[in-house]
Amino acid sequence: MSRLKLYLGAIACLIGVGAIGAAAFFFWPHRLPEVTGSEKQPHGAALIERGKYLTTAADCEACHTAPGGKAFVGGLGFKLPFGTLYSPNITPDAETGIGSWSDAEFVRAVRSGVGKHGEDLYPAFPYTSYALLSTDDVLAIKAYLDTLAPVSHRPPENDLMFPFNQRYVMRGWKLLFVPGSPFHPDETKSEAVNNGAYLVEALAHCGECHTPRGIMFQRKQGQALSGGELEGWTAWNITGDPKTGIGNWTDDEIASYLSKGFAHGRGPAAGAMRQAIDLSLSRLPASDINDIVSYLRTVPSLPSSYEVKSQSAGLVFSKSSKAWSPEHNVGGLGQQIFEGACASCHGWDGNGQNSPRAALAGSHSVNDVTGSNLVRVILQGTADDRGTATSAMPSFAEAYSDTEIAALSNYVISHFGGKRGEVTPDDVGRAR
Ligand code: HEC
Ligand code: HEC
Ligand code: HEC
Repeated sequence: MSRLKLYLGAIACLIGVGAIGAAAFFFWPHRLPEVTGSEKQPHGAALIERGKYLTTAADCEACHTAPGGKAFVGGLGFKLPFGTLYSPNITPDAETGIGSWSDAEFVRAVRSGVGKHGEDLYPAFPYTSYALLSTDDVLAIKAYLDTLAPVSHRPPENDLMFPFNQRYVMRGWKLLFVPGSPFHPDETKSEAVNNGAYLVEALAHCGECHTPRGIMFQRKQGQALSGGELEGWTAWNITGDPKTGIGNWTDDEIASYLSKGFAHGRGPAAGAMRQAIDLSLSRLPASDINDIVSYLRTVPSLPSSYEVKSQSAGLVFSKSSKAWSPEHNVGGLGQQIFEGACASCHGWDGNGQNSPRAALAGSHSVNDVTGSNLVRVILQGTADDRGTATSAMPSFAEAYSDTEIAALSNYVISHFGGKRGEVTPDDVGRAR
């Protein structure tokens, strides 16, 4: 969705639900009743351990840490169509962090998107998913965060345009789109499927990226997990649709991708998914990963809203493989660049040269004719969290022009995807 549409949508949201917001202001609960854990809540070290696990599964660190900064001190910028928002410090510093927050204030923030002083928080903080967390679990997260070293750090001030800098504009939106009650296990399903559902829908908030958004930036829950977009990257369809989703992936392939960041014949993960894997999913017990797979198998299969033609069967890759059109063809500009810049790590046969992580055969990114993720990987590079030479790919943004990267992308789509790529130099310019 274009930024303009998003902007217009946001204005529509303002006008449409501003009235509801104003009305709601008078009815919104202002007094905070005390919140306590149930009798099932663990105590002492067990509580902290549980909180640490939940904080990892919810990936709080990813958004509350600036590149190169200390964990949880905030300052990561979120570029919205109407300005930049910065994540706050959630270490227990009393002045600049959440050290002076009560349990009730914390639970209200995480589940309802309301700040300490009653102000409405922007949904870049995924409380639309965390609303499903149990009270016990949110309290356990706070108990863990309280054990971190307090760090005095004030992130930059938000830089948002009027009227979006007025926090109350979110109130109507929240009434419409934030779930009103926590997750309820489905008694007819196994414990594994219920645990998987809690991880996917609440903690790991997969739908915040993988569900398409409507004109008001709300998740279209009728198309849950059928593919979304964030900062130009496509978060692929992860429902069971065999053509555009993961219906044809084996359980082992999904588990390998989620826990290690790549699966043989499915390619590696990059972008925001790479980060979700490094900081969160790779640190979960194998049983959780298996439960996520079990739950994904129960999600209704839906085709994606974007077009992705599936892998052509029986492709054999070699340096002299026929390509789609003369300019993508053997000896063309794209192939020359691939030979000089990519082949040493990726090889011509799709199996990866020095590392199975560099195997591109079957990767969704090289089968998508728009090249959305492919172009971004070439521009930004990618690496797993071990940062070893065989697991890292450098950025090529400085090395090549838009025209060269477009030609390279179309060659890669042609060679490994067996399709005519549609990447233009303008697409590359926009992705920079
Ligand atoms: C996808 C990014 C993202 C994730 C994941 C995330 N947050 Fe945040 N969080 C934000 C942003 C952005 C804000 C600021 C919202 C605003 O200013 O309106 C925020 C605000 C908050 C606040 C309010 C703090 C204040 O000073 O007002 C708390 C508390 C918080 N987050 C805790 C958490 C916890 C706990 C987790 C994990 C369970 C978490 N966040 C996960 C992005 C995120
Ligand atoms: C912060 C955003 C974000 C979150 C949260 C997220 N994903 Fe992803 N996911 C992505 C992006 C972007 C890609 C594309 C990565 C690529 O092409 O390299 C992706 C790719 C995938 C793929 C590969 C699909 C394919 O066809 O290649 C799977 C499977 C997947 N995600 C599952 C999940 C699950 C399950 C969760 C929750 C446990 C999750 N993701 C959470 C953004 C996200
Ligand atoms: C120094 C080795 C190296 C070079 C050079 C390199 N790559 Fe990579 N590339 C990798 C590795 C390793 C990964 C997987 C990283 C990981 O495990 O997350 C990767 C991942 C990718 C992906 C997968 C992204 C996805 O979402 O599926 C694509 C596509 C890609 N590279 C294309 C290229 C192209 C095109 C070039 C040439 C401009 C190139 N690479 C050059 C090592 C390299």
